[in-house]
Amino acid sequence: MLELKNISFQPNDAPILSHLNLTINEGETVSIIGPSGSGKSTLLRLMADLISPTDGQCFLNGKNYISYKPEQLRQTVSYCPQTPTLFGETIFDNVSFPAKIRKEKCDIKRANYLLTAFNLSQYDLNTNVSRFSGGEKQRLAIIRQLMYVPKFLLLDEATSALDQKNQQLVEQEIFKYHQEKGLGIIWITHDIKQSTRLFSRRLTIEQGKISNEEVIK
Ligand SMILES: Nc1ncnc2c1ncn2[C@@H]1O[C@H](COP(=O)(O)OP(=O)(O)OP(=O)(O)O)[C@@H](O)[C@H]1O
Ligand SMILES: [Mg+2]
Repeated sequence: MLELKNISFQPNDAPILSHLNLTINEGETVSIIGPSGSGKSTLLRLMADLISPTDGQCFLNGKNYISYKPEQLRQTVSYCPQTPTLFGETIFDNVSFPAKIRKEKCDIKRANYLLTAFNLSQYDLNTNVSRFSGGEKQRLAIIRQLMYVPKFLLLDEATSALDQKNQQLVEQEIFKYHQEKGLGIIWITHDIKQSTRLFSRRLTIEQGKISNEEVIK
């Protein structure tokens, strides 16, 4: 379970998030909508422990974030940024990264399975990623995060550069891990249809606050 208690983020004079309370249960699927600049990415970056709140506290399974090792938190709550950064030169450099930080061997079979599931099977693991399109980068970044399935996957407009067919492929593959492994999903989107299609709850963020909470199904 993820809990944000009275969270504020105010690096300068103006608050970006103010006094926000939110609980997300294990395996829950939540979409987040709201105007540009309202604080959605900041909220996910706080949940992912990439930034620290200026007030309030975050808890994972009842334990304060500050009592976890950063790498343990990052492997449990995994964030895919709005503009993903790819590593190294090749697809392999990216899909093998999660194994490398765990000092394990890269599961090549799984990497190839995911490349096919995300409609990138025309490329092999040695393909150079420097000329990848925006949508190809987005898919490879998500593959990198699914090499090991976390407890919570935080997606920041993860399919914004994809056509409808690829968007649905990505959604289906991600939600498969919700059904099979109880993956919790928190997904920022500007696509209103997407925000209700598969999620059980939808939050609206406006001016750094949760202005609406809807139970979808
Ligand atoms: N570290 C920071 N210092 C100062 N201002 C910041 C910082 N991080 C974010 N902001 C500002 O906070 C506001 C919210 O940013 P955020 O990226 O969370 O918005 P968003 O809701 O994700 O918007 P979009 O839909 O455009 O992605 C923006 O005005 C941004 O410039
Ligand atoms: Mg954003």
